This record gives sequence, C-alpha cells and structure tokens, in this order.
Amino acid sequence: MTKIRLQNLRKTFGDVVATDEVNMTLQEGELSTLLGPSGCGKTTLLRLIAGFYAPDHGKIFFDDRDVTCVPPHKRNTGMCFQNYALWPHMSVYDNVAYGLKLKRIKGMKFTKSAIDKRVMNVLSLVRMEGLEQRHIHQLSGGQQQRVALARALVIEPDVLLLDEPLSNLDAKLRLEMREEIIRIHRELSITTVYVTHDQHEALSISDRVAVMDHGYVQQFAPPKEIYSNPQTVFVADFIGRCTFVDGTVESMNGYIRARIPSNQIISGKETIEGYPFEVGETVKCAMRPESLHLMRTDPQDNEITGKVTRTIFVGDALEVYFSVGDISAQARLDPDSTVTTGDTIHLYAPRGDVMILPVGGVEALKKVPGHPLFAESGPASAACAA
Ligand SMILES: Nc1ncnc2c1ncn2[C@@H]1O[C@H](COP(=O)(O)OP(=O)(O)O)[C@@H](O)[C@H]1O
Ligand SMILES: [Mg+2]
Repeated sequence: MTKIRLQNLRKTFGDVVATDEVNMTLQEGELSTLLGPSGCGKTTLLRLIAGFYAPDHGKIFFDDRDVTCVPPHKRNTGMCFQNYALWPHMSVYDNVAYGLKLKRIKGMKFTKSAIDKRVMNVLSLVRMEGLEQRHIHQLSGGQQQRVALARALVIEPDVLLLDEPLSNLDAKLRLEMREEIIRIHRELSITTVYVTHDQHEALSISDRVAVMDHGYVQQFAPPKEIYSNPQTVFVADFIGRCTFVDGTVESMNGYIRARIPSNQIISGKETIEGYPFEVGETVKCAMRPESLHLMRTDPQDNEITGKVTRTIFVGDALEVYFSVGDISAQARLDPDSTVTTGDTIHLYAPRGDVMILPVGGVEALKKVPGHPLFAESGPASAACAA
C-alpha cells in the first residue's frame, strides 16, 4: 500500500492557474475524493498524480519515493476516466489483457497463462465473469464501466485514480456502481483518488474529501467534519444547505458574538481551529436548515425572526423558506409543524450549531499558524526539466 504526499503543487496552463498550493497526504489504503465545481482543478490534480502533467513547482511522493518527474508508466497507477476509453471492437478479455501484454516486470514479459490468470481474477472481482468474449459495443454502460475498472486494476496498481467514473451512467446505475467501487476498494485496499463534482457521491464513498475551488484545496477532512466544521464559506455553501447572515465580530469568549444588520446579536462556534478572529472583523454566520427549531431549548439560543415565504412538505420534514430582512433563509422543521406562508416565525438556533466563518476563504486560512494545508512552502523553481 502506498501513501501519496503532495507538496506545494502548482500547475498553470498559460495564464490559467489550474491548481496551486496543494499540500496534502493521502494515507495508505485511503479512498479520498477531489470534490468541487467544474473547472476547479480536479482533473489537473489527478493528472499530476498520474504523471501526465509535470507541476510548475512542488513535489509528489509515493511513500518516500519522489515521483515528481517519473513518467506515468513507471508510477504503477491504474487510471479510469469518465469516457472509459475502451477499444469498442476488441473483446472484454483483450481490453483488460492489453495493459498486461505491454507490461514487463524486471524486463520479463508476462506469460500467456499468467496473463490469463490475472485477467480472469480481475473480471471476477468486477463481476464480469462469463462475458470475457463479448465485444465492448455489446455491453451496457454499467458493464463497460466494470471493464474499465478491471483494466485499471489488472496491473495491480499501487494507486488507483478515478476521474468522474460514473458520470456517464444513469442515476440508478450510478448508485449501484458507487456501491461496487466501495466494495472493490474494501477488498483490495488500494490507495484511491476519486474525482467527482457530486457532493452526495463524495460524501458517501470517501474516507476523506478534498473540497476544491479555483484550484485550491480548501478543506481535506472526513465527510462529517466537512459538514459540521466547514473551513470556508465556499465549503459550507457547497456541501449541504446553509443560510448565511453577514455579521461583525463584537466579542470572542468561547463563542463568537457577531452583530447582524438587523442590529441583533448572533452567537456561534468557530469551525477553524486557531483562526485569529478580531473584534470588528466582518464574518458570515452560517446556519444549517436542521439547526433551526421552533422551540427554545436553552436561554442562550439565538432567536431568528422572519416572514415565511414558502413551505414544502417533503414527507419526513417541513421545509420552511423565510426572509429575515433581505436574506432568504431556510429551516427544516418537524413535518407536523403548522407553519404557513405569510406567518411571522420565531426560530431558535443553539450557539453550538451556528458556524461563524471568516470571509477571506483560503487567504483567511493562511492566517492560521501551522495550517496543515498552507503551512508548507516549497521550492518555487521548475519541478522537472522540460
Ligand atoms: N490542457 C489544458 N490547457 C489549458 N487549460 C486547461 C487545460 N486543462 C485544464 N485547463 C484549465 O484549468 C482549469 C482546471 O481544469 P480541470 O482540472 O479540468 O478542472 P475540473 O476537472 O475540476 O473540471 C480550468 O480553468 C481549465 O480550463
Ligand atoms: Mg475534470
């Protein structure tokens, strides 16, 4: 099993900074996802790990081996793309065997029977046994995806890299294949990097999620941590739902107290360990819909008053949309709640559930001494000879 360490990576294309200041360590056997909107740099980062791009600067280690300038075929990574890139007129067997036929171990080619054994094993792993003689164009989308996975796995890679592997599948197949990837990862425990723009996919399969925006990894943490302690406004907004209220810090004493435009005070927790809030600083007070309640449970709860603009009954909850001054807010209440459009509503949010975030995004995180994502600075010179 292989640990992947990325150190101060930067990759540009002309004037476009595709990814920058990436510092993270993916543990052995871990399944990590790169999650973020289209164009945020996920594929670029994955291709840096695979070796298809050389970084402008920074380093990549597989365990203690510096692979920054090692070509892709010498990194022993298995890769699987969105569009499979299978050979349509070759059989399943030949598609999977192809990589092995080219591969040599210590200068030796694989024997025919060694190839056969490996191909049949991996086809059984992805549950495609019996279909080895089919041609690719005779397979469903889900089956093609299984073949693409088998082809990535047959070389017994140290690292498995998957770039939006399920995005060509319909919703039902996507769920099924997601479970398959989890199962296969569990069986093989290969260090895996999985790219997706789908937050549900990322949260459901990952040990840890790297949330990216504009080329930066803004947070790298387990799904629950990302949801409960987002480190930037972008992360809080991208993962799950959130209402944001502008505030100005009044005091910091365990909880942060911020004055909001209606002249009320909101108290909340800080989610960034070690961030130096200052009195007078502009912040965002962020609240998840499920953090707002009709009843006060503690005298310290924040009270939010608004006017209901719409309610939606969704079975297990009543979603309530309401306005607080200019802000549109949302709450997720008990399905039996008798709240209707036009009502003035008083809701209560415990201090520990309100999140107070600085507005500076990544720049704010850099103010945290020793921050794990931004503390490391590396050489700014070219990483590899052209
Ligand atoms: N080969 C390339 N040449 C020029 N620009 C590129 C190239 N690849 C990616 N980019 C740019 O880099 C940024 C990140 O792209 P990419 O890594 O593909 O994002 P994602 O996979 O998150 O959608 C985008 O602005 C994209 O247009
Ligand atoms: Mg991409």
